[in-house]
Amino acid sequence: MNLPNLEEARKRTQQKITFIEEPYELSEELKTLGRGKKYYIRTYGCQMNVHDSENIKAILEKMSFTETEELEDADLILLNTCAIRENAHHKMFGFLGRIKHLKEDHPHIITAICGCMAQEESVVEELQKKYKWVDLVFGTHNIHRLPTILERAMSRREQEIEVYSKEGEVIENIPVKRDSKYKAWVNIMFGCDKFCTYCIVPYTRGKQRSRKPEWIVHEVEDLVKQGYQEVTLLGQNVNAYGKDLEEPCNMGNLLELVAKTGIPRIRFMTSHPWDFNDEMIEIIGKYENIMPYVHLPLQSGSDRILKLMGRRYTKQEYLELVSKLKKRIPSLALTTDIIVGFPGETREDFEETLEVVKTCEYDSAFTFIFSPREGTPAAKMKDETPIEEKNKRLYELNDLINEYANLKNQQYLGKKVKVLLEGPSEKEGKLMGYTETMKLVNVDAKEELLGKIVDVEITDIKTWSLDGKVV
Ligand code: SAH
Ligand code: SF4
Ligand code: F3S
Repeated sequence: MNLPNLEEARKRTQQKITFIEEPYELSEELKTLGRGKKYYIRTYGCQMNVHDSENIKAILEKMSFTETEELEDADLILLNTCAIRENAHHKMFGFLGRIKHLKEDHPHIITAICGCMAQEESVVEELQKKYKWVDLVFGTHNIHRLPTILERAMSRREQEIEVYSKEGEVIENIPVKRDSKYKAWVNIMFGCDKFCTYCIVPYTRGKQRSRKPEWIVHEVEDLVKQGYQEVTLLGQNVNAYGKDLEEPCNMGNLLELVAKTGIPRIRFMTSHPWDFNDEMIEIIGKYENIMPYVHLPLQSGSDRILKLMGRRYTKQEYLELVSKLKKRIPSLALTTDIIVGFPGETREDFEETLEVVKTCEYDSAFTFIFSPREGTPAAKMKDETPIEEKNKRLYELNDLINEYANLKNQQYLGKKVKVLLEGPSEKEGKLMGYTETMKLVNVDAKEELLGKIVDVEITDIKTWSLDGKVV
């Protein structure tokens, strides 16, 4: 048993990062542990979790488990959880209720909890006290150890908990079963050292650890060989890539290396405004296969709130960065994240956020009401704004965001754009895909065009998508 520890998770030491680069191998016994058994996995949270689930699936299949999409058919149920806001917690515990019922009729079912909530001390305490029937809990730092942990849980049948709060390692060669044949997630770094005062991620994902550039390039080259059309380079704060590496390599260098692999489309997320330098802007502008799309979280337009959030930039600096980006990359699409109702946010602070939205004219945005996370500094800040007022601000902000999103979409009518057709559309007989600028398009196209980047003329504009035909 190894329990999460908040104090440990908060620490950052100078200790060197260990790179584990051996092939990923299982014993003969582990390879057959899942024979005849089915797993069901449910993923919450961000792309990083989605990609972790792709690793988990591949590991389980190496153990001879097969995937099922029916909860009722599963012998093993895994919940890959997210801790970013309170409602993520509610969703997970809500779903556990359903599994409990199922397990009453089918006691052989093994239930596993992993992901960011598993890294939280209070969550694991609750699982130990009130959810003793949950069989195993493992964290974000030891996904590669799943076979061993699972074997212990299956043979002992008492709650098995293995969560590490130490700073972690970089582990290469974890197998992956990708959800798409055309688009791939590629981790470039793990963890985050920014410690924005509201955010749980630095505690659940540990210290910033960059993968070595050669491993990333190798992975992308391999994807090119397999016919992949797009990669998204993943990290909580990709612009800080490489700061922790011994051999110097920054995000600009890495983007250039990846661009030269010839993969048709490169995206990256998420960018923190603090580390976005001119060299990076230049490289995004220079290479045709780096997509003109940047997700640049603003969080707030008020300098006072930005300071309380620990974001390390001012409204002015943010606006200057956006202006540079738009100048160098004329076709740029820009999206953002905004939090309303941070402790102490006044009407005036909020209006500054609205002003920034008007200046930046975002293509779209994810907007959230502040949610206090246990153990973070912001959770202890005095927060007197009533929830009704916060809701009102959120609606007002969303109205403005939607106005600009609509305006941006209108500009596409009659235009010719490139779309990577990646799957069947929800609209019958059509395919769906995204433009270089990340607009969803439903296209009249034959199935044999799946996985291809095609020229599409935009024929109609809907609220959340575009319609088009192949030209
Ligand atoms: N690494 C990314 C963000 C990851 S979390 C970055 O720095 O931009 C995704 C978004 O969730 C954040 O941008 C923020 O807007 C929101 N978020 C994070 N913690 C939150 C909290 N405690 N309450 C409300 N929203 C939060
Ligand atoms: Fe959280 Fe800030 Fe790190 Fe993003 S940069 S993951 S918001 S601490
Ligand atoms: Fe959630 Fe963890 Fe991602 S908290 S947003 S799954 S890094």
